[in-house]
Formats: sequence, structure tokens, C-alpha cells
Amino acid sequence: MEPRIGERIIGRDHPAGLLRAAVDRAVASHGGLVLVAGEPGIGKTTLVTAAADEARQRGALVLGAACWDSDSAPGYWPWVQVMRGLRRSADDWALARESSEPALRVLLGEDTGAGTGSGSGSGPADLADGDHEAFALYDAVTTALVSVSQRRPVIVVLDDLHWADPASMRLLRFATQHTWFERLLVIGTYRDAEVESAEHRLHPLLMPLTAKATTVTLTGLSRAEVGALISRTAGREPDAELLSEVHRRTGGNPFFVEQTARLWRAGGQVTTIAPGVRQAVQRRLAELPDAVVEVLTVAAVLGRDFHRQVLAACMPGPVAQVDRLLDRAVTARLVAARGEGRFTFAHDLVRETLYDALPDDDRRARHAAVVRAVDLSGALAERLIPADLARHAWLAGGALGRPAPPACSPPPAATRRGGWPRRRRWCTTAARWRSPTTRPSGSGRWSTSDGTCTTTPAGPRPTVSSPRPGRSRSPSTTRCCWRGSRTPCTGRRPSRTVRAPRRSCCGRRTGGSSASRTPLRRSPRSPPT
Ligand SMILES: Nc1ncnc2c1ncn2[C@@H]1O[C@H](COP(=O)(O)OP(=O)(O)O)[C@@H](O)[C@H]1O
Ligand SMILES: [Mg+2]
Repeated sequence: MEPRIGERIIGRDHPAGLLRAAVDRAVASHGGLVLVAGEPGIGKTTLVTAAADEARQRGALVLGAACWDSDSAPGYWPWVQVMRGLRRSADDWALARESSEPALRVLLGEDTGAGTGSGSGSGPADLADGDHEAFALYDAVTTALVSVSQRRPVIVVLDDLHWADPASMRLLRFATQHTWFERLLVIGTYRDAEVESAEHRLHPLLMPLTAKATTVTLTGLSRAEVGALISRTAGREPDAELLSEVHRRTGGNPFFVEQTARLWRAGGQVTTIAPGVRQAVQRRLAELPDAVVEVLTVAAVLGRDFHRQVLAACMPGPVAQVDRLLDRAVTARLVAARGEGRFTFAHDLVRETLYDALPDDDRRARHAAVVRAVDLSGALAERLIPADLARHAWLAGGALGRPAPPACSPPPAATRRGGWPRRRRWCTTAARWRSPTTRPSGSGRWSTSDGTCTTTPAGPRPTVSSPRPGRSRSPSTTRCCWRGSRTPCTGRRPSRTVRAPRRSCCGRRTGGSSASRTPLRRSPRSPPT
């Protein structure tokens, strides 16, 4: 029976198929280079590990290495690991040594006795990149692998290439040129969002390789696959609502799904950010320039979906600069363009981590800044639905500089300019936000803490509590005061003939999120997930 790639991996049929085909070719005739790209936690290591297991079962010699995120790792570190793996197989090592001594000994830091020209022979750090010795080393490593591949297929797996040293990348490029004619397959993984940034030190070395490689880019798991992963991790099946929530918040990133499912298994809420997830997101943010993080923070205040014009209006500095920073965030795969100036966070967990890190005062000030920006521009009012505006006004609290509820604040000028339809929606939504009984809670699709807002509340039709015990009434009968003490807000276009029901803009906020706020700090570089 044909062995299958990783029984334990969920989904990934297409990428696993591409890897299987590459392994098949390497076993039969010739190799090549396969690069598996994607964000941290998306499943790169899991996928290539499964492919390596299968290759092993098919008789290939698998030599694995992981690049290390530290300046203290010696030069050529991934290749040192590959050669150490080779040395563990006595027969293969004998073949390799025959063709590649003494350079291999230098790479492994063994005493060569005669030296390698420089005379010291003490280790790979002595091999200055770009000189004769470096070339001799590239040749020795490649020759060793090719020699062994004539005996049996060789699969070299280099994990986390985004952390490789430049010399190792040059050696990879050199070795890759020989794989097409031999049973030698190199599989590498890297974080595309990091390396595709022109500022990344490996950008000029890794990007040209992608042109020669079969590249597999991993994206989030589907909803059904997320369900399977939750069930497996938590030991019980999530219901449809919980599954949708986890899928939406994690964007199908398996690492985030697993962490969230573990939290759920331990009795926690899936709407809480698991500590491991927060750290992973913070590590990703710490890789970015401060200005990009600031743009993302303002975007996080705007919500999961936002418009670039609204974002730019809430930021100091020229629009073109904000656009550039936003592009950088897109390259980092933290937000995605949706067309027509609209953007969305890749997963809510990123947005929530940024939002939760804001101190309360700062958060209120930022919400107030959104309302003011929209207030100043009629054009922006078209980019932000009244429901969102009402949410920002509510979350701004006293930072807006007008009395907080129960005094009802008027809708912003832009909403007033938008005419009755906009104004009515403002009133209706503001009423929901301000009423203790109808304000959307943490459940359903409304949340004061997660910043998301839809125009339709998930719960039943809202009601507000009656001033008289034992009775309740609909919001349509509550007085509104923003238009002045003499003119109650009806929420409808005034009509001489039809008496419209009144809608409330009033209500008092109670409770609120008590989630602890952890300021975002740049963390030291840490091991891969
Ligand atoms: N397809 C998958 N099926 C099940 N679990 C997965 C899958 N992909 C990843 N995982 C799990 O998600 C976590 C992160 O995966 P990993 O391969 O380490 O991501 P990456 O290497 O991209 O950072 C691991 O614990 C792994 O078990
Ligand atoms: Mg990994």
C-alpha cells in the first residue's frame, strides 16, 4: 500500500500532494527545490515533517536541519546539522568523506591536521564567506550529497530559512543547481511575509531561489478542518457557533486554533486570547517598524474591516505615508486588501492583541479621534457606517469632550449631513449602545471589547427597561435629548401626516470589559513555533 503523507495532519491535501510528487521524482530520477512558505504557526514544519517521514519510508536518506534565530548560531549552522546527520549513517558518511575531505571536517569543526589552506582548521566560523574556502566548502557539501544520492535518494530539509545566515543561503543556491540532475531533493520552509519585505537581510538571496523552486504557500485551514483540529485538541466537538467564532478569530492558523482549543478544554472562553497566541502575535508585531505597528493600532481601533481613507484621516502625517505603512502591513500578511480601499485583519487575534494592549485612556482618545475625523469630512461618513460611528462615540466616552450618557450626544455632523436615513441609523444604533439592556454584549456579534460591530444585533429585538416595574417597552417609546430639550428624536423623517414612533438615543453604560491590558513590548527573538 502506498504510504500517505502524515495521518496526523488535517487537510493540506494539495500541498501534501505537491511534496509527494517531488519525493516521487527524487526517488525515481531527479530532485529539485521545494519551498514551503507561510506565516508562523500555519503548519510549515508539520507539513515538511510528514513529507520527510514518507520519504524515509521510501528508502530515502533524510537530512534535516533547522535554522536558528540567534546571532550566536555559528555560520553555516543548517549545513553543519545536515552533515552531522550524514555522519550518523556510517556507509553514507564513508562515501561522502571520500569525495569531500577535508572541507567537511572543517565544517564540522573537526581537527584536520593538515588544515585547509588557512591553517587553523578550527571550524566553520573560519570560512570567510565569498572567498576560495567558502567556494571549496560549497563544492564539498554538494559533492558529498551528490555522491550519497547515487547510492540512495537524499532529501535535505531546511526549516525556517528566514533565519539562515547569508553564507548558508549561498550554499543552498549552489547546491540547488546540482539537484536537477541527481536524486537530491531540497525542501525549505520560510516565513514569506518576513522575507518578502525588501528590508529583510535575506530578501536578495531567498527571493531569486523562489523562481527556481516549486513554491507551496500555506494559508489557513478551512472551517471544517478547524473543527477537526479543535475536536482532536480539546477531545470534544465544538458546536457550530463556537466553530465559526474560532475559525473567524484565528483565520484557520493551526497554532492559534490549537491554543484556543486548549483554553476551551481547560474551561476558558474561546473569546479570550490564549497566552501562547498573544506571545506569537507580539513576536510578529515586534518584527515590524514602530510606525507600521502604530498604523495597525489605529486600524485595530477602527475594527476588523476598515477603509484606508478613514485610517489616514485618523493618523498624523501625509496620506501617502500612511498608505506606504499599510502596504508594509499587507506584506507582513497581518492585513489583507479587500479592494476599493477596504482592508481587513488577517485574523482577529492580531487586532485584539493590539487593541487590548492600549491603556483605557489612550483607547478612548483613539475612538474619539475617529469620530472627530469623520465629523470633519462628509466623504468619510460614506466609509464608516453609522453603527460603527455610534460604537466609536460610545467607546470614546468622555474623551469626545461632550457629556457622556445618559445625556444623549448628537450624531456627528457628517451623519447629520447624510440626511435622515443616516441620522435614523445613528439614533437606533446609539440607542442600542447606550441602553444597559440592549447594548450588545460580549456574546453574539456585538462586543464592546472586541471592537467588531455589525448593524444587526445577534440577540432578540432590543427592548429597554420600563420606568415602571413589571413592564418593558420598546426603544421606540423612549425620549431622546440630543436634538434639544424640546424636540424629541423620532428616528424617522418628520411627517405631518404620519406619526412616527420615537426611538431612543439614551441609555447608561454599565459594566464593561475588565480584561487585563498588556502593553505591547518588543520581545527578544525567540525560537520558532
Ligand atoms: N495540517 C495540520 N493538521 C493538524 N495540526 C497542524 C497542522 N498544521 C499545523 N498543525 C499544528 O499547528 C502547530 C503549528 O504548526 P507548525 O508546523 O509548527 O507551524 P509553522 O512551522 O508554520 O510555524 C503545531 O502544533 C502543529 O501540530
Ligand atoms: Mg516551523
